[in-house]
Amino acid sequence: MNYIGSETIETERLILKAQTLEEQKRLWEILMIPEVNKYYLTVPPKFKEKLLDWSKQEEFYKKNMKSAYNKDVFIWSIFLKENGECIGRISCQESGLDLSIRDVGWYIDPRYQGNGYGTEAAYAMIDYMFTKVNINKIVTGAAINNKASWMIMEKLGFKRQDKTKIVQYTFLDELTEDYSYTLDKEDWFTLKKNRGR
Ligand SMILES: CC(C)(COP(=O)(O)OP(=O)(O)OC[C@H]1O[C@@H](n2cnc3c(N)ncnc32)[C@H](O)[C@@H]1OP(=O)(O)O)[C@@H](O)C(=O)NCCC(=O)NCCS
Repeated sequence: MNYIGSETIETERLILKAQTLEEQKRLWEILMIPEVNKYYLTVPPKFKEKLLDWSKQEEFYKKNMKSAYNKDVFIWSIFLKENGECIGRISCQESGLDLSIRDVGWYIDPRYQGNGYGTEAAYAMIDYMFTKVNINKIVTGAAINNKASWMIMEKLGFKRQDKTKIVQYTFLDELTEDYSYTLDKEDWFTLKKNRGR
C-alpha cells in the first residue's frame, strides 16, 4: 500500500479534498438529517444525544481534524465545483487487521441527491484507492432498504455476497438487514477496461 493520504481528486463536477475544520459544522448538519444518518451511522445508540448536540460534537471534530492530513487517512469532503458548496463526505477506512482490505462510506446532502454526484465521487475515490494507494479489496455493506447506496456499489462492479448481515444503526430502534459487497482490485481494473477509461 502507498500511504499518500487524501490527495485532492477532481472529477467533472466535483472536487474531493482532505477535510478541514471549516466545513465540519455543515457536514455535521447534513449528517444529523434523519434520512442521511438512518443507514449510515453505526456508533452505539448511547451516543445519540451527544451526536445531536454541536457544542459537544465540536470538540470531537476539532480533535479529528488533527489527523485529516495524516498519510494513512483517506477521508474527503465533497465540494461542488459550480458553487464551491460542501455537499457531502466520502471515505475509505480500515475494516480489519489487513489495511489493504478496506470499507467505504459516503453521504450527500439530500438537496443534491439524485444527480449522480454520489456515483461520481465514489468512482473517483475508489479509482484513487486501487490505482494510487494500491489497496487490494473493498469489503462493505448497505441496508437492503438503502437502494441508492447499493445501486452505486452495483454500478461500480461490487459483487453482492450470499450472506446478509444484521446491523444496529445508531438512530434506528430495530435491527436492519444489510447486503454485503466486495470489490477486488482485479475486478476494478476489468471494469475500467470495459468502460474504456
Ligand atoms: C447513497 C447516496 C450517497 C447516493 O447519493 P446520490 O448523489 O443521490 O447518488 P446518485 O445520484 O449517484 O444515485 C445513485 C443511484 O441510486 C439511485 N437512487 C437515488 N436515490 C434513490 C432512492 N431514493 N431510491 C432508489 N434509488 C435511488 C439513482 O437513480 C442512481 O441510480 P441510476 O444511476 O441507475 O439512476 C445518498 O443517497 C445518501 O447520502 N444517502 C444517505 C447516506 C447513506 O445511506 N450512505 C451510504 C451508507 S452504506
